[in-house]
Amino acid sequence: MMRLSRTTKVVVLTGAGISAESGIRTFRESGGLWENHKVEDVATWSGFEKDPALVWKFYRQRWEDSNSTKPNAAHYALVEMEHYYAQHFSLVTQNVDGLHSAAGSKNPLEMHGNLNSCFCTTCRAKFKLHDTDPDIAIPLCPKCGAYLRPDIVWFGEIPYFLSEIEHSLKKCDVFIIIGTSGLVYPAAGFVMTAKLMGAKTIAINLEAPDNLSFIDEFHQGKSGEVLPALVKEWTAP
Ligand code: APR
Repeated sequence: MMRLSRTTKVVVLTGAGISAESGIRTFRESGGLWENHKVEDVATWSGFEKDPALVWKFYRQRWEDSNSTKPNAAHYALVEMEHYYAQHFSLVTQNVDGLHSAAGSKNPLEMHGNLNSCFCTTCRAKFKLHDTDPDIAIPLCPKCGAYLRPDIVWFGEIPYFLSEIEHSLKKCDVFIIIGTSGLVYPAAGFVMTAKLMGAKTIAINLEAPDNLSFIDEFHQGKSGEVLPALVKEWTAP
């Protein structure tokens, strides 16, 4: 078991698995289909160009579903870590469900976007989905009238915050991945960067992640059970 002091620089990366105990289905669980849609139809720019109303229906539904969920013990354990490690702690998430912020995490880097955010396909202005009219199939930009699109990083697009993430991976002492299959890049490669730069690597996951060979310490199980116990040990006086 690794000991972590208050000045240990910690970076955490979360994936769909951390929200599973809140009732949100993970991607791999759905067998490559998202609520019976092909990934390329709902999670690519070309899918949006082909049928924006379908893509909007899909994301509005996912946003509504996420509104009825609550953070679980793993999300709250990360808030505790943020308080304990303070400026030495960074949280990166691939999740778009907003549950880290709902739990109280101050600055989760949502590298794949957020379900409650959308932006204009022409002038790029950002808006909150809760300010758009749910009865309009394709919401329009209040500024320029063009289509709005979900603020979700689709396949083939560049994730947000990559330079900040790379910077913190290079200087961290410990890198922890939670609830992520290690299949989708670039996030799946962060563990290699961190390890190569000298960090200890820890995984908490229900199954062995695909990048297990780069992990120093693997805790198999549900993050809502495993993480709070580990955080207790890491932050023990
Ligand atoms: N606790 C911990 N891990 C869990 C739990 C749980 N309760 N339930 C499931 N898991 C694990 C699964 O074993 C799996 O390895 O979480 C992982 C979820 O993997 P994915 O569904 O692939 O999710 P993720 O890694 O976040 O996907 C990455 O792929 O589809 C894209 O952009 C999308 O952000 C997403 C990215």
